[in-house]
Amino acid sequence: MDGPTPAAKRFDRAWTALEQHRGRVSPLHLRDLFVGDPERFQRFSLTHEDLLLDYSKQRVTTETMALLHELARAADLAGWTDRMFSGEHVNMTEDRAAFHVALRSRSTAPMLVDGRDVMADVRGELERMRGFAGRVRAGEWPGASGRPIRNVVNIGIGGSDLGPVMADQALARWRHPGLDIRFVSNIDGADLSDALAGLDPAATLFVVASKTFTTQETMTNAASARAWLVGALGEAAVIRHFVAVSANPQAVAAFGIGADSTFAFWDWVGGRYSLWSAIGLPLMIGIGPEAFDRLLDGAHAIDRHFRDAPLGANLPVAMALLGIWNTNFLGARTHAVLPYDQGLRRLPAYLQQLEMESNGKSVDRYGRPVRHPTCPVVFGEPGTNIQHAFVQLFHQGPDPVPTDFLAPVEPHHDLTGHHDILLANMIAQAQALAIGQDEAEARVAMIASGLDGATADRLAPHRTFPGNRPSTTLLFRRLDPYTLGRLIALYEHKVFTQGVIWGINPFDQWGVELGKTLTKKILPELSLDALAGSDQDSSTAGLIAHVRATRSRPI
Ligand code: F6P
Repeated sequence: MDGPTPAAKRFDRAWTALEQHRGRVSPLHLRDLFVGDPERFQRFSLTHEDLLLDYSKQRVTTETMALLHELARAADLAGWTDRMFSGEHVNMTEDRAAFHVALRSRSTAPMLVDGRDVMADVRGELERMRGFAGRVRAGEWPGASGRPIRNVVNIGIGGSDLGPVMADQALARWRHPGLDIRFVSNIDGADLSDALAGLDPAATLFVVASKTFTTQETMTNAASARAWLVGALGEAAVIRHFVAVSANPQAVAAFGIGADSTFAFWDWVGGRYSLWSAIGLPLMIGIGPEAFDRLLDGAHAIDRHFRDAPLGANLPVAMALLGIWNTNFLGARTHAVLPYDQGLRRLPAYLQQLEMESNGKSVDRYGRPVRHPTCPVVFGEPGTNIQHAFVQLFHQGPDPVPTDFLAPVEPHHDLTGHHDILLANMIAQAQALAIGQDEAEARVAMIASGLDGATADRLAPHRTFPGNRPSTTLLFRRLDPYTLGRLIALYEHKVFTQGVIWGINPFDQWGVELGKTLTKKILPELSLDALAGSDQDSSTAGLIAHVRATRSRPI
């Protein structure tokens, strides 16, 4: 039998070195590290243009970072990055490229997939989007009754929803004031009903966004939206009021949307990496083609940085390696993303799909069980709201929650006093997590506030903060299309880098399939006139029976 390859041996050595190193870092407290090194912030922060990534509040030393860089080298990060940027089939289980970087390429260099330059297709589709978005924005896309379209309803789910809706909110101040852009994703009929409430069908355009054009939720919502429109304006109106975004033109045609109203993307664009493609159409209609171009510019700037910057100066690589350190060596199983920016309130939801659908895997790219934890549970909400919700656990819960704090230095509104309070809160949270407050300090603070000694003694354990809880702070000057493009691309390449180190394929998502299959069996069994499934497990059968029995009783 063949032994481990030299590359595998090197990787194991790098991993073992980090395990041994953990023993040296575990006793260190961030409080002491800051006291012992006045240059710690400078040593452990990186910049890209106006972006600042401060990771000095991570539990790392210069040796940790050097060992993590060796791990990245041993995993052949450079080789895998080249493969992704060269259009190779890095999505091995689906035998496809993962070539979202081509969608925002601003260079004249060809971008080849299977020996073919895809840039003419990319630019052509972008040009069609620009033309269409421009006409809608200018009121030059009349509906069937001649009235201009003023409402746009995007129907899609997962990657065909989360990116556009997140970016639409983040860039709301760029949105055309005369357009109402809405998003429908959930199969819960309340979502579509709410989105249609108050809309005039004669002024409403539906964008049906689905890579496969087979997704149950999207196709059901699209059919109901179509019925709503046809009920008001007749069958002939569909052609003026529906456009599609898909990689499956046959299914689009079968739905009744013509080629002229179909915006294409390609199988080498993963759903959760598709914002940059025609999936961004509702966003482009809202913010305009120029702003959409800036979004692409920002992502491209980070593509170049990721490719060209050395490991020690590379922002997405640093974000990835710190995640690996926290997850695989310090035992964290969660990761919080807390934007202190109301516009970024849907960023955590977007990143949940990006990170967990990409790296929530337990086998490596060759189908072998992985030997270590992979993607942590990612969650978040905007600050400061979170400080009055779940942050208690971050400070005093038993397990540290590694956290990303994100904020713009300058707001887009005039309430500058608010913004300073916002920033001060964010910086204070990161400081409290890192430095903490020991029992003696808690006691001194209580006595100073007028409490008697006995009460201070009794409350001291409750008012102690262990600290040493890792966080990274990402500051940028302002939230604008360019910066949003940079932020998303940073996380995309972080996820890719972690996938390389965990040895998994971040570009498939087989884990979502079984639930879809089982839904198909359960759906007919919910109907009262169908046979209840006797071969279901008792819980499933019990739930189905309960639904049927409840429905059969009068209210
Ligand atoms: O949830 C599974 C998934 O396949 C995602 O990866 C994808 O973004 C989403 O469904 C929507 O898929 P589609 O664009 O094909 O409707």
